Amino acid sequence: MTKITHAVIPVAGFGTRMLPLSKSVPKELLPLGNRPAIHYVVEEAIAAGIKHIVLVGHAQKSAIENYFDTNAELDHQLRQKGKDALADSLNWLPKDVSVSMIRQGKALGLGHAVLAARPIIGDNDFAVLLPDVVLDPFTTDSQSDNLAFMIKQFADDRHSQILVDQVADEDVHKYGIAKLSQDHDLATQNDNTSENMSFKVAGFVEKPSLDKAPSRLAVVGRYVFSNQIFDYLAHTTASVGGEIQLTDAIDALISQYGVNVTTMRGDSYDAGDMHSYMQAFIYFAQQQLDNN
Ligand code: G1P
Repeated sequence: MTKITHAVIPVAGFGTRMLPLSKSVPKELLPLGNRPAIHYVVEEAIAAGIKHIVLVGHAQKSAIENYFDTNAELDHQLRQKGKDALADSLNWLPKDVSVSMIRQGKALGLGHAVLAARPIIGDNDFAVLLPDVVLDPFTTDSQSDNLAFMIKQFADDRHSQILVDQVADEDVHKYGIAKLSQDHDLATQNDNTSENMSFKVAGFVEKPSLDKAPSRLAVVGRYVFSNQIFDYLAHTTASVGGEIQLTDAIDALISQYGVNVTTMRGDSYDAGDMHSYMQAFIYFAQQQLDNN
């Protein structure tokens, strides 16, 4: 039984929904309260046991790489001024955690971005965290527990795990939507967010219109994959939006091996859309002001 210690975080997108904020600052570095959004996502991964993080980036987004590197000059200057505690707080990444960056080259979609990480991930099974989605780190203890649960579940039954949550009718067109087997329709009727549930999924439909949506369970942006997903991604052709969709490779994986959905505990925030981002910012800032 091998534990998942690798994670891919795709960060190559231009973030057009966040313009003009994202014109010269990568959207992943925009603040949620007093930290850049990606800081919380990396903390979540580390808390779930991830040791090797692969950022799939773009030439114009090297500021993200710098955020996870030491700034020796700044460190030196802060320590000379006696601000050691501040300098220490910038070196928050645990010593046994590595963050590496690989470039996507062409913007051919999420599936293509995940495949770009293959040279670093190698033969390992791995997690994927989409950084637009930030799980609530304040009110519950469940932020990293969702991913930890999925990793444990994968270790037990070797089924890839996809985190899903109920969304409102008007939001189904923004997400990958799960197609469930009938047995599980009832299990998801009561929106029980106090514990994770994991069960087999029949398939996914990427960004359907409401009348084509097979359920209201949306892909949240946390995945645990067996390494076989790479073989399917390598053979996936462009579909919805002219992009190589991760969802299509997952459907191919389902037809050969079992894939499970895990229902999410706690709340998530979409930091990749201006309206939701502003709501998330206010929430994060208020939590931090209240706790100081
Ligand atoms: C991606 C996935 C989609 C998922 C969503 C979560 O879409 O393709 O299945 O529901 O992330 O945020 P994107 O938002 O990158 O268009």
